[in-house]
Amino acid sequence: MLLNPQIRRPAVTRADREKIKVKAMERKHQEYKVKKKRQEELRKGKKMQLHQPVLLERCIALLTPSIEKSLAKKNQPVVIDATLGLGGHTHELLSRFPQLKVIGIDRDKSAIEKTEARLKEFSGRFTIVHAVYDQIPEVLNSLGFSHVDGILFDLGVSSMQLDFADRGFSYSQQAPLDMRMDQSSSLTADLVLNTYSHSDLARIIRTYGEERFANAIAANIVKARSENRLKTTTDLAELVKASIPAPARRFGGNPAKRTFQALRIEVNNELKVLERAIPAGLDALVVGGRMVVMSYQSLEDKIVKKIFQDRTESKSPKGLPVELKEYAPRFTLVFRGSETASESEIAENPRAQSVRLRAIERSAA
Ligand SMILES: C[S@@+](CC[C@H](N)C(=O)[O-])C[C@H]1O[C@@H](n2cnc3c(N)ncnc32)[C@H](O)[C@@H]1O
Repeated sequence: MLLNPQIRRPAVTRADREKIKVKAMERKHQEYKVKKKRQEELRKGKKMQLHQPVLLERCIALLTPSIEKSLAKKNQPVVIDATLGLGGHTHELLSRFPQLKVIGIDRDKSAIEKTEARLKEFSGRFTIVHAVYDQIPEVLNSLGFSHVDGILFDLGVSSMQLDFADRGFSYSQQAPLDMRMDQSSSLTADLVLNTYSHSDLARIIRTYGEERFANAIAANIVKARSENRLKTTTDLAELVKASIPAPARRFGGNPAKRTFQALRIEVNNELKVLERAIPAGLDALVVGGRMVVMSYQSLEDKIVKKIFQDRTESKSPKGLPVELKEYAPRFTLVFRGSETASESEIAENPRAQSVRLRAIERSAA
C-alpha cells in the first residue's frame, strides 16, 4: 500500500504527550513488578542455598591466567580473597586449583568463625585474617609474602549479615540500629542517628545514599530522636517512608534502601577504606597478577573505575616524542568498562542484580 505523503497526521497535544509518558511509566512499573514476582517464585521454588556467590564462574575465569602463570613458573600461586564472607569464591578456587593458597580477609569475626569451619578441609592452604582490607600490606607482611598472584574484592555486606536480623543491616526486619561489619568497632548506626547534627545526617544520606529527600529525612530523624522514637531498624524504615512524598515512593523499591546504605557506609567508613585498599592491592600484585572487583552500588564502582583508569594511563608529559619507560602504565584493563550478571543469574540470585565487575592486570614491575 502506498502512503500519500500529503496526508498529515493529527497534531499531538501536550495532554497526549503527558498520557504517553504516564502510560510508559506504568508499563515500566508493571514490568518491574512482574520481574520481581518471577524472581520471588524462582527463589521459593528452589531450595535456596544458604549463600550463592555472585559471578562465580566469571571470577574464577578472570583469575585463572594469573594462577596458571605462577604454576608454569613452578611457584605456589597465592590469591587474596579480601572479602572472604562465607567463602563461596574461596571454596571454589581452592577446589579447582589443588596447589593454590588463599589468604582470606574479613572484618567480621562471625563470618570468619563460620568460614573457618566450612573450609576446614583446605586448612593447609588457607589462612584467615581478621582485618580491614586496606591492611593488605600489613597482612602480607605478617605472613611473610611480598606479592600475590590475584586479589578478589566482593564488596558490601554478605547474605549472612543481611539474614541475621540482629546485625541491623536489613530494613525489613526489626533489630537494634547496629550495622557494624566488625562488631568490635565502636561506631554504630544508633550512635550516628542519635549524635550527628542535622547537617551531617543530611550530608551523609545525600552523598552516600544518593537520596533526594535527605534534608527531610534528617529533619525527621532529629525530631524523632528528641521524642525518643528512634530505637530500631523498623522505626527508621517507617520514618524514611513518611519523609518521602507518596509519588516518589511508587518507584525504585523500598524507600528506606538508600538511607540504610548511607548509614552502613558511614558506620563502616566503607568508601575511604576502599580508596586506600585498591591501590594497596594493586601494589601487591606480581607482574601478570590480576585484581577482580565486584561492586554493588555506584559510589564504590566509581572509586574502582577511577583508580583503574589512573593506573592504566600513561603519565608521560605531553609533547614527548616517545614514551619513557618510567611514565608508561604498569597495568592494563582485562576488558574495557564493567560487566554485569546475566538475567538468568539475577533470577536465581537477586544479589547479582546490581553487580558491576571490573578486572585489571599488572603488566610491568
Ligand atoms: C559480599 S560478602 C563476600 C561474599 C563472599 N565472596 C562469598 O562468596 O562468600 C562481603 C564480605 O566482606 C566483608 N567486608 C566488607 N568490607 C570489608 C572491609 N573493609 N574489610 C574486610 N572485610 C570486609 C564483609 O564483612 C562480608 O563478609
